[in-house]
Amino acid sequence: MHHIKALELKRLYQLRCVGVKYSDSRRVVNINNYNLPTSLQKLEEVVNDCHLCELSKSRIKSVFGEGNINSPIMFIGEAPGGSEDECGRPFVGRTGSLLAKIIETMLGCSREDVYITNVIKCRPPKNRVPTQSEVVSCRPYMLRQIEAINPKILVALGSSSYQFLTDDNTPISKIRGVVLEFGDKILIPTFHPSYLLRNPSAKKDAFLDFKKIKSYLENI
Ligand code: URA
Repeated sequence: MHHIKALELKRLYQLRCVGVKYSDSRRVVNINNYNLPTSLQKLEEVVNDCHLCELSKSRIKSVFGEGNINSPIMFIGEAPGGSEDECGRPFVGRTGSLLAKIIETMLGCSREDVYITNVIKCRPPKNRVPTQSEVVSCRPYMLRQIEAINPKILVALGSSSYQFLTDDNTPISKIRGVVLEFGDKILIPTFHPSYLLRNPSAKKDAFLDFKKIKSYLENI
């Protein structure tokens, strides 16, 4: 089975080498074209078995997402790192602890009460930024996840997450805390917790963003 998938992947690379291009993500409007299951459990199975991009070759585990599937709020990071790749869960390790602490202190709930995922479901080697074709391959999974969970508020953690969600290159320092529309939901970008670990002075801005998030949560 694994051998057949490796061959299929190789054929896709060959097509790309002779000039076949992935579709432009900005034109991907209807995720129904991907024929993805609507049930989260089935979708997770598809993700665990996905070989659409080369991250599938180096991953240990894919990281689908976890938390309360009835939550009105969903946190979306960039991609799994080393610890997440090992255990198959999003935001573990130091970055995850900080995210959990912020959720507890600012929103008054635990990480299990909200839903947490990433745009990209497999770890990029050495934690490099995912390529555009990886984003195009993986983003439909996240869009389907958003549809299935149907939260009212999406929180994009960091510039890559914001960019992959919206195709907008505005730096996170300019767009953070701004309340945006994302279909029938609202999207609030804020700093990535790993950025906050490296730049503790940015925490005060993140706290303002979370105050705003809290007030939106209270009013839905
Ligand atoms: N950084 C992310 O963006 N996601 C994780 O799951 C972990 C670290």
